[in-house]
Amino acid sequence: DMMKEVSGLKDLEKQIKSLLDIKDVIVVAGDSDLSPWVKKEMGRACVACMKERLASQSIVAVAGGTTLAAVAEMMTPELKQMDILFVPARGGLGEDVKNQANTICARMAEKAMGNYRLLHVPDQLSDEAYQSMIEEPAIKEVLELIRSSNMVIHGIGDAITMAERRKTAREEMAKIKHRHAVAEAFGYYFNQEGEVVHKVKTMGIQLEDVKKVKHVIAVAGGASKAKAIKAYMKQAHHSVLITDEGAARELIRE
Ligand code: BG6
Repeated sequence: DMMKEVSGLKDLEKQIKSLLDIKDVIVVAGDSDLSPWVKKEMGRACVACMKERLASQSIVAVAGGTTLAAVAEMMTPELKQMDILFVPARGGLGEDVKNQANTICARMAEKAMGNYRLLHVPDQLSDEAYQSMIEEPAIKEVLELIRSSNMVIHGIGDAITMAERRKTAREEMAKIKHRHAVAEAFGYYFNQEGEVVHKVKTMGIQLEDVKKVKHVIAVAGGASKAKAIKAYMKQAHHSVLITDEGAARELIRE
């Protein structure tokens, strides 16, 4: 029954929290690998978590991916009075438009009745182009907003799945495999110890910036992401993890 299910999830949360040694964990029922609506449930939990933690005039940096797209869809307008500004966490990472941080950022802001700024930069930049673009006043301004964000919300992906989805070039792919990357988050690839083994070059928030942000929420579920979640969380102990039962049970089983 319902009560039993809730206490079961609370118990899972406790176990995951101590297993991964992280600040806070929310586990929703189901497995998003099997049922797409579970992403929406994680989205609902994420929105509740955001509302608890956000102060007026906060800047929220959002990453891309299908999970974050579900978070955006679950956003409600109660944040309207708070004057929240949404920004994309990083520039293009090679995703389809619907999965891009810019798209999700605009959608989330629209649903929250907040404001947003976008980062208009191409995915692949040469060093020279990169250096001159970060000096562009319009881009510089958005980059500063991103760097001063009070909250970051991002997904976590399986490294190979993400590298393939982004049509990563052959050489880069070889590096990712050779260095045993298992997790990916906002363009960074991590091995099972949680060490960075590769990084996609793009503008926006860097890993060292993320570590200084007050509220970081990682949203990732599905049994297939258990290894990735475990690896990523090794270097993100101050983050909140929102996951599902599928991932949580797999994490415990491992
Ligand atoms: C994004 C992150 O938020 O979510 C990616 O920036 C991560 O780095 C991705 O891998 C996961 O995507 P999905 O579609 O599985 O939610």
